[in-house]
Formats: sequence, C-alpha cells, structure tokens
Amino acid sequence: MKKALITGITGQDGAYLADFLLRKGYTVHGIIRRASTFNTDRIDNLYKDPHDPKAKLLLHYGDMTDGTSLRRIIEKVQPDEVYNLGAQSHVKVSFEQPEYTADVVYMGALRLLEALRDYIEVSDLQVKVYQAGSSEMYGASKPPQTETTPFHPRSPYAVSKLAAHWLGVNYREAYGMFISNGILFNHESPMRGETFVTRKITRAVGRIKLGLQDKLYLGNLDAKRDWGFAGDYVEAMWLMLQEDEADDFVVSTGEMHSVKEFAHMAFKLAELDWEKYVEIDERYFRPTEVDALCGDSSKARKQLDWAPKVDFPTLVKMMVDHDMELAKQEATLKAAGHEIGLRQLKQS
Ligand code: NAP
Ligand code: GDD
Repeated sequence: MKKALITGITGQDGAYLADFLLRKGYTVHGIIRRASTFNTDRIDNLYKDPHDPKAKLLLHYGDMTDGTSLRRIIEKVQPDEVYNLGAQSHVKVSFEQPEYTADVVYMGALRLLEALRDYIEVSDLQVKVYQAGSSEMYGASKPPQTETTPFHPRSPYAVSKLAAHWLGVNYREAYGMFISNGILFNHESPMRGETFVTRKITRAVGRIKLGLQDKLYLGNLDAKRDWGFAGDYVEAMWLMLQEDEADDFVVSTGEMHSVKEFAHMAFKLAELDWEKYVEIDERYFRPTEVDALCGDSSKARKQLDWAPKVDFPTLVKMMVDHDMELAKQEATLKAAGHEIGLRQLKQS
C-alpha cells in the first residue's frame, strides 16, 4: 500500500489529488497550515476521525516556510510519493507580496528537496517527487508553448515557480533524485479559489441572477488562457510519478479562450447579457500581463497516455451550475436574515 504526502492539500488541486489517490488505495498524508479559522473545507468530505483504523487521510501541521516541520513530517510519514502543491498561487498577489511568494514557492521547494535529499540518503529508500510548475513560467513567450519553449516569466510568482522548476532539474541531475516537473496550464473547477478569474465570474453569475450582486468588476478581458478541468490534471500528476524515469511534462488542453469569451459563455448559460453587468476596474490589471497561454501537451499524451476529458463548454457549465446552487443557498440564508455582505469584499 503506497503512501503519498501532499503539500497544499487544502487547495483546489490538493483536494482533487487526495480524492484521486484515496480511490487508488493510497494512504494520503497532507500538510496543512495553522489558521484561526477552519481551512479544510475542500477535503472535509474525505476526512475521517484519525482514531478510526480505516482513516486513510491523515493531516499534519506544517508550512513551506518552516523547513523543520517539513523534515519532521517526511521522517514520520516515510512517503513513497511527494506532491509539492503548496504555494502562494495568486499571480496578482505576488506583485504585492513578492518576498513571501518567493519564500513559499521557491525557498519552500528548496526546503522540501533538501529534507528529501537527506531522508533518501539516510533511509536508502526511493521517493518520487512531483513539483507543481506553471504555464506562467512561459510568460511572454508566444503560444503554442511546449517543453522546449524558452521561459520568460512576468511576475514574482512565475519567477519563483521557474526557480523551483530548475531546482527540480538540478537535484535530478546532481543527486539522481526522481523529481518530475509538471508544467500545468490553468485548470479550474467548482473548487477553484474565488479570486481567480473563472470562479470570480461564475460566482458573480449565480449571485447576479439571484439578485445578490449588481456588478462584476474585472481587469484585462483580452488575456487568453488554456483552461482545463482540475480533476483531469491531477491524474497527469500521478501518471508522471508512475514512470520509470523522472521528466518534465506540459499538461494542457491545447485550446485557448479569452477572459471575455469565458464571461460571455458563463453569463449566457444563466440567460444574462454579460455586457450589462461587467465593468472594468484598473485595480485588477497586473504591472506585467501574460497575454496568451496555450499548451502543446503532445509529450504527455504520448508518453503518459493522458488526455483531458472535460472540454471548455462543459467546464464553464459545471462551474456555473455549481455556483447557481451556491447562490440559491445564499439567497435562502439572506431571506432568513443572515448577513452576507462581506463576501463581496473578498473578491480580488
Ligand atoms: P491553491 O488552491 O491556491 O492552493 C494552494 C495550497 O497551498 C493551499 O492548500 C494553501 O493552503 C497552500 N499553501 C499556501 N501557502 C502555504 C505555505 N506557506 N505553507 C504550506 N502550504 C501553503 O492552488 P491550486 O490551484 O490548488 O494549485 C496547486 C499548485 O499548482 C500550486 O503550487 C499552484 O501554484 C500550481 N499551479 C496551479 C495551476 C492552476 O491553474 N490551478 C496551474 C499551474 C500550477 P491554505 O488552504 O491554508 O491557503
Ligand atoms: N484574478 C483575476 N481577477 N484575473 C483577472 C481579472 C480579475 O478580476 N480580470 C481579468 N483577469 C485576467 C488576469 O489578468 C489573467 O490574465 C487572467 O484573467 C487569468 O487570471 P487568474 O485566473 O488569476 O489566473 P492566472 O492565469 O493569473 O494564474 C493561474 O494560472 C496559473 C497557470 O497558468 C493561477 O492558478 C496560477 O497559480 C497558475 O500557475
């Protein structure tokens, strides 16, 4: 029975990956951060009381900024596979918190790899590592982007991810460690954080339709992204670690749409005209934008036998349907006198 350790298990991908690995029979260990409020919403449905002998999802307090905690957890868990998903993953926020972003994304990866290097040397056990790289690393390089496209990162987040990517390559070459870098293009789901543009749009669609919100303020509508479904992408992460040799893979749909197209389709599903509700707010523009990302994932399709199953219209509909239900619940709460105004402040 294999043991997996996931950093960032409380995030979108962490939740899908934990579910995927539990279904495969893994025991899944996750690193969570201490917070003053519960931050395990996305994995609550997978969690059993650890006193239950059948519990296969086990959580440990740790932080990518705290190397000691990472070492201790690795030694305790003795994982077969490690998925490094923990990150300050918001590109716009990385311009406001560049040092913290670099500390978590780049230094965090370094701390993790150093702990694993020592663990592997002392234990003489093999550990396979997945490093969550990003299409943001391509930045200004024109699409289609493939494993050989030059990187040109355009934010502190992307620079940090690129440094972590190269650490993976270097530790592979220097110490023979099994580290596969996934270069994943944008992937979304009903569990996507509400400040990323797709979810911000689908949340607004539900709330506007039910009269809970009047307007949706967005930034650059012309940016183009290759949007896939997170559930499909975690399978690719796992497949990378089932290979005999570590390698780097682009994971993408190969289809590109603009933010405007996403908004148009999402509002249309709710029989709303997006142009009546969307307004532009300069606050959401980035100092340097990534204009167009579209991945060529031929290598993953051929070598890993991976392909995305959810197409763009299905993804948009899945998110709109989910957020319409959520808005109905909010409307019911509001009718019962509960205040929900603070929600709007959480958008960024
Ligand atoms: P996400 O929803 O933002 O989740 C990030 C996770 O990292 C959360 O569990 C978060 O914990 C955790 N985290 C943040 N700071 C941490 C710290 N200092 N120590 C430990 N954990 C920390 O991101 P995601 O969309 O699931 O993405 C997963 C990974 O793939 C990230 O590394 C992201 O950069 C990368 N990636 C994502 C995409 C995409 O389109 N989704 C594409 C390419 C690469 P809290 O819940 O406590 O905040
Ligand atoms: N977040 C946000 N909010 N983005 C907006 C908005 C807005 O109001 N209006 C327009 N956009 C544009 C952004 O300028 C960007 O060009 C595009 O929408 C997508 O933004 P995000 O959804 O925030 O995602 P991202 O592409 O910057 O980053 C995501 O994907 C990366 C992979 O390419 C994140 O998940 C990263 O962690 C990930 O690495």
